[in-house]
Amino acid sequence: MLRKQKDLVGVDVGSYAVKMVQLTEGKAGHRLVNLGMALVPHEAVSEGRIQRPEMVVETLRKLAKNLKIKPGSIAASISGYEVMIKKIEMPTMTEEELGVQLRREIAQYVPYKLDEVNVDYEILDVSKRRAKYMDVLLVAAKKEAVGSYVNMLRTAGFDPAVIDVDYFALSNAFEATYGVFAEENIVLMDIGASKTTMTIVQAGRPLFTRDMTFGGQSITHRIATELGTSEENAERIKLGLGAESADRARLEKAFVETLAEWTTDVKRALDFFFSHFPEAKLHRIFLSGGSARIPGLEKFLEAELGIPSEVCNPLQHIDVDAGRFDPAYLQQIGPQMTIALGLALRRAGDK
Ligand SMILES: Nc1ncnc2c1ncn2[C@@H]1O[C@H](COP(=O)(O)OP(=O)(O)OP(=O)(O)O)[C@@H](O)[C@H]1O
Ligand SMILES: [Mg+2]
Repeated sequence: MLRKQKDLVGVDVGSYAVKMVQLTEGKAGHRLVNLGMALVPHEAVSEGRIQRPEMVVETLRKLAKNLKIKPGSIAASISGYEVMIKKIEMPTMTEEELGVQLRREIAQYVPYKLDEVNVDYEILDVSKRRAKYMDVLLVAAKKEAVGSYVNMLRTAGFDPAVIDVDYFALSNAFEATYGVFAEENIVLMDIGASKTTMTIVQAGRPLFTRDMTFGGQSITHRIATELGTSEENAERIKLGLGAESADRARLEKAFVETLAEWTTDVKRALDFFFSHFPEAKLHRIFLSGGSARIPGLEKFLEAELGIPSEVCNPLQHIDVDAGRFDPAYLQQIGPQMTIALGLALRRAGDK
């Protein structure tokens, strides 16, 4: 029996901010119902990991209350650190047969036992290299990590109907906004506070994924050191909120030096990509995440990497009631909401 598909609230739990997006299917495509974010207390997170889940629970509850989102089904995602993604070749078979075989032979593909991981898979295409074989994307997530994350979301009053992976939420959001670039390889880079999620998509399919350990927090930290001020103050200065006339030259130095480090990390990731796909060309970079809002970042990366770069605004093709949501505000926070939006596109019962 067909059940009405339920709209899920997309919930992105970041180390800096919790984001929520709710969409519904309208006449003109996806329609924005609700969106917002709340800052996670500084003490709750260190080194990009949640140390004080009860504080994050509190933030989630507060945001849901402010947005008048009732306790219910949500889609959330775990980061790339929590999963192992592998592209494998398997003899052509049905999805069902594949499921059985992968479960039986999981130890061949990932260094875990079956009872330690949740296994998911997607048949991508027929193999280009071997006849009667197909390419399969295998995703294995450590049960322990998923379990404590799901517990935290439940404690906050939610029912996590879908647990996705940041990489795929990112590519989903991108595809819903810009469609599929059939002829181009696109680098998606979500730069948060403590980490950067990279997904390279080819004809709408994830080709390569990579997590990097840089984010906006490192600029804040450098500003604090450079100007001899607290992290809180440095954050305000970074966002241009501080009334204090910060030393421009030293502030710029903090930005430029950090961005140079980021570029080195990105180059290393792309080198790794090219070692797997020596023939591939990278056509464009789309930036998202809060740190994509750093003025001029796309130009900086474009100059350093020689790949056309732009900031992704996933709200661009969402039908929005301008009376309820200020377009200027949406334009501003759009890039930061990308993963939450990618999650809001998921449906209950999706794999
Ligand atoms: N206008 C802006 N200019 C520069 N940096 C900004 C701006 N707005 C937000 N940021 C930075 O973006 C970061 C937060 O981005 P985001 O919300 O994507 O992170 P997160 O998802 O919570 O973190 P993570 O994914 O790393 O756990 C912070 O470091 C913040 O300082
Ligand atoms: Mg994030």
